[in-house]
Amino acid sequence: TTGRFPEPPALPLVGHALTVPRGADGLLYMIRQAKKLGPLYRIRVLGEETIVASGLDVVTELSDETRFRKHMGGATGILREPGGDGLVTAHDDEPNWRKAHDILMPAFSLGAMRDYHTTMLKVARDLTNKWDRAAELDLAVDVPEDATRLTLDTIGLCGFGYDFESFQRDEPHLFVKSMNQMLAQANHLNESLPGTEHLQPGRTAQFRDSIATLHRIVDEVIQHRRVTRDTSTGDLLGRMLHTTDEVTGEPLDDTNVRYQVLTFLIAGHETTSGLLSFALYMLTKHPEALARAQAEVDALWGDTDQPEPTHGDVGKLTYMRQVLDESLRLWPSAIGHAVEAREDTVIGGKYPVRKGQHVLVLHAALHRQPEWGDNVELFDPERFSPEREAERPVHLFKPFGNGQRACIGRQFALHEATMVLALLVHRYRLIDHADYRLRLVSTITVRPTDFTLRLRRRTTAD
Ligand code: HEM
Repeated sequence: TTGRFPEPPALPLVGHALTVPRGADGLLYMIRQAKKLGPLYRIRVLGEETIVASGLDVVTELSDETRFRKHMGGATGILREPGGDGLVTAHDDEPNWRKAHDILMPAFSLGAMRDYHTTMLKVARDLTNKWDRAAELDLAVDVPEDATRLTLDTIGLCGFGYDFESFQRDEPHLFVKSMNQMLAQANHLNESLPGTEHLQPGRTAQFRDSIATLHRIVDEVIQHRRVTRDTSTGDLLGRMLHTTDEVTGEPLDDTNVRYQVLTFLIAGHETTSGLLSFALYMLTKHPEALARAQAEVDALWGDTDQPEPTHGDVGKLTYMRQVLDESLRLWPSAIGHAVEAREDTVIGGKYPVRKGQHVLVLHAALHRQPEWGDNVELFDPERFSPEREAERPVHLFKPFGNGQRACIGRQFALHEATMVLALLVHRYRLIDHADYRLRLVSTITVRPTDFTLRLRRRTTAD
């Protein structure tokens, strides 16, 4: 028996084109529809349809890489223009995907994290220096903006030996501005009715302008390395420029390197910044979790004014990791990942899917399935306690995507976020001076916006 995908009420011809709100409201709408319509539903915009998956069983099916593979379409499809055959936007069967994957994997090994640790700590100190001054002067800090300063400088220095000097700037770096413009335009173009791009010449031109600026900054990063004549392969850029692929015996070509640098600069900072902002938001609103997090860092570092977290310390911060995982559950900063059927098939026991047809795994909806327990909206880091984690079905938690196309930078992001969050809760009381209500901005990723805190240095009495 075959079935028709459930869908929200639709209008003739345009389908759901006028029903689905734009931006962050669109994300919230899609999460609500998953609650209403169940594990699989469909949205149609004119002729284009998107199947949205969120049930555990169906996501388990979709995670079978013999039946499904990564799909490049929608917003990620539009990112093909700036990202080319860089790792995120490469098709599975493009030779450059495997080549770059093999060349770059060693840069994300556990040993490599050890090398990045000192640099990550240095950038974390730039953040705490800024926040110390804000605490002294009783000034509010913009959490997502400073989190972005931190994560951009971290990937710039760790991956490319390039200093964006974000903490020396009042305004976000041009890279961040152009990236945000580019992502916003990509999102708009994606949300527009198909085939109407030519009706929006201004938007398309702005999109191209932002891409040109980004590529110019990327060329500067590469040039910066070339002039040093440094041919070591100790970081991402070194591997990109000077490692040969074992299969072909060739290094990455210059065009591909350019795409990879842009890809890593964006993928390597934007989502981690969102994660840190959400985690700080959650801790601000959940004093009991904050108290436990502070107890964990106090046990490790006491009341030392300037703790020196070691690489090994980060592994001991298990509650901090639970806080980050629980933040990624409720607000996964990468909204979803799309897969397509390798052959005509049936999913969910009765719904036919054609070869090449795509399905979006909506992370925030998967992460609110009943298998998580009774009160799925509640922020509760205990869900990630080691005992409960051992029992959790493999495919119930997918913030980093799936299989061979899952996030290559997961350990990097988690190492950085764990250490920084620990340093922050060790050092400051977080004062919710504006009684912040969560407001989201969403392009391809989602993060809080207008989230400010005031800070006080903690004393032993706190
Ligand atoms: C892929 C999430 C941090 C580099 C992905 C995918 C997701 C994801 C969901 C799969 C996308 C898809 O299937 O279309 C996240 C989250 C992060 C994070 C939530 C932080 C909390 C990072 C960092 C880096 C990075 C720090 C680099 C240093 C990449 C790359 C890919 C990727 C290169 C493509 C991998 C491939 O297809 O070979 N990420 N990411 N990400 N991520 Fe991340």
